[in-house]
Amino acid sequence: MPDSETLSNLMSENRRFEPPAELAADANVKAEAYDRAAADRLAFWAEAAERLDWGQKWDEVLDWSDPPFAKWFVGGTLNAAVNCVDRHVAAGDGDKVALHWVGEPEGDTRDLTYADLKDEVCRAANALTELGVRKGDRVAIYMPMIPETVVAMLACARLGAPHTVVFGGFSADALATRIADCQAKVVVTADGGYRRGNPSALKPAVDEACEKAAENGQTVEKVLVVRRTGQDLGESGWDDDRDVWWHDVVASASSEHEAEQHDSEHPLYVMYTSGTTGKPKGILHTTGGYLTGTAYTHWSVFDLKPGTDVYWCTADVGWVTGHSYLVYGPLANGATQVMYEGTPDSPHKGRWWEIVEKYGVTIFYTAPTAIRTFMKWGDEHPGKFDLSSIRVLGSVGEPINPEAYIWYRETIGAGKVPVVDTWWQTETGQIMISPLPGVTAGKPGSAMKALPGVSADVVTEAGESVPNGSGGYLVLTEPWPAMLRTLWGDDERFKETYWAKYAEQGFYFAGDGAKKDDDGDLWMLGRVDDVMNVSGHRLSTTEIESALVSHPKVAEAAVVGATDDMTGQAVVAFVILRESAVEEADEEGEGEELVQELRQHVAKEIGAIAKPRQIMIVPELPKTRSGKIMRRLLRDVAEHREVGDVTTLADSTVMDLIKQKEGTGA
Ligand code: WT7
Repeated sequence: MPDSETLSNLMSENRRFEPPAELAADANVKAEAYDRAAADRLAFWAEAAERLDWGQKWDEVLDWSDPPFAKWFVGGTLNAAVNCVDRHVAAGDGDKVALHWVGEPEGDTRDLTYADLKDEVCRAANALTELGVRKGDRVAIYMPMIPETVVAMLACARLGAPHTVVFGGFSADALATRIADCQAKVVVTADGGYRRGNPSALKPAVDEACEKAAENGQTVEKVLVVRRTGQDLGESGWDDDRDVWWHDVVASASSEHEAEQHDSEHPLYVMYTSGTTGKPKGILHTTGGYLTGTAYTHWSVFDLKPGTDVYWCTADVGWVTGHSYLVYGPLANGATQVMYEGTPDSPHKGRWWEIVEKYGVTIFYTAPTAIRTFMKWGDEHPGKFDLSSIRVLGSVGEPINPEAYIWYRETIGAGKVPVVDTWWQTETGQIMISPLPGVTAGKPGSAMKALPGVSADVVTEAGESVPNGSGGYLVLTEPWPAMLRTLWGDDERFKETYWAKYAEQGFYFAGDGAKKDDDGDLWMLGRVDDVMNVSGHRLSTTEIESALVSHPKVAEAAVVGATDDMTGQAVVAFVILRESAVEEADEEGEGEELVQELRQHVAKEIGAIAKPRQIMIVPELPKTRSGKIMRRLLRDVAEHREVGDVTTLADSTVMDLIKQKEGTGA
């Protein structure tokens, strides 16, 4: 649980921001929705499902007869791609822009209408079929932020071939693990994408990953490659039997494709996320409930008016936010949106705001870490552009601190735009806890309360609801449509991770701490397990520890998440070297070199996002008599605090040795 100082600081926050009158008067969702949903939750979600086009209507809204395995809209059939694309064209919106795509190099833009998207998705579906993809097969997608990524995802959905999108910043090893775990037979990738002003390669990592996956028993049959940068393909080059260019097979394919109606519970995708062990969890989402949950929440939380709004979610499609709020939710709602390839400071620190001005973005959704970065860069960058089109601002990924909330509202939102702080997870698929922009009087730093149709609570270790003014564990007390159905190939771990702690009550354990304030509104307090949140991305302490000990010079490692002004948390590692490496490191200057080597090693094993901010080489780690590492004490060191109670340590002098090391800056 978070310390009481953080809690009381947050609780003394008493500013309130009422919804703007105009927005409230015309809001998609009014206060009555809470009562309606509370009166009959399943009828509420059934009504939300009517937003979609179904082949066959469902017989039963929810089958919860075998918890925790839920089935939503049982007996119903639908096609996610048809719902996201074809039906808008059929309704006469073919000329409406679906994607205003902005490449990182200036002037490199493309607008895709819904009609364009339909043609592309059909072509890609035909091409994937040609490459041997059948309903039920898994397809890995490792791509930059380009329209073809969205097209590839929707083409897979159309065929009923679950995709697993792996963030382009992950390493070849991480990609290989995911390919092997879900046995993907096809990979869709690009030669590279643009980041920070330069082409950044992807294809060589795919080659390496295919080799590694093969060693783990999974042969990738085909690799479909988009030419984006035209860069050199690296040493391994091109495998004529395996590799095919997108522009060869997709461009020549027919734009006619008859879509099958899939079962409501047909797997839509697997998204890997870090857990408390070294092995990432494959979160499985299915079709009908997921699309209902994402479409409804995208429409309600952002007050989307599909005819006039221009929506922009800055998340990469490699994360769940990109899946739910860049691809499935917005497209199911027929939204017009912006998609940007590159980094926010390329070629200048006002790039995002320039894009907002150019396209007249009305709804903007980003993460606190980005907001804090812009605060640091200074108001002059957004100040150069006209941001007056913006009417709703969203935040996701980690708790938003009141300072960042206020800056966001003042500087980006002209002091009047509502900020919706949306709490959810890869597992929940959809936003669960959030203000509604036309209903809620927002409090800076609070995600406020569960959305209509969602049931959340804060409970004690024993599962009792805590009174207002107290903190505890966040739980979800009733199933919801976009909930994960299981972990790919591991029902046991699914039960154990999320449902075992409150098995008696049947609650879903989110792994987050939270507090109810005096009004009963919720304040999220971060993870309560060995999972870190760095820039809104989930990283596992164990996974990084395993990466470190896989280095030949490392004997043992302990990793903690330390508070960081910019990234929320940062990775700090404590490493014990093998005997042979100790002497080497002791030599003048060698220590720093080794630290760099270890940081690079973590980047290679997992990805650059997992690189520790700091690595301390220490002689011992603090352990209890039963051998458990006391991360709490290491966190004290990492956050430069007085070290806490050491009485349960097997050897209480260990912390003195570590503190000495800190003093020397090693
Ligand atoms: C974890 C889920 C959901 C998409 C992005 C991250 C933290 C997320 C908030 C928020 C406080 C938040 C939680 C959660 N988190 N949004 N608005 N306020 N914390 O997805 O990688 O699945 O991580 O992110 O700790 O458990 P994810």
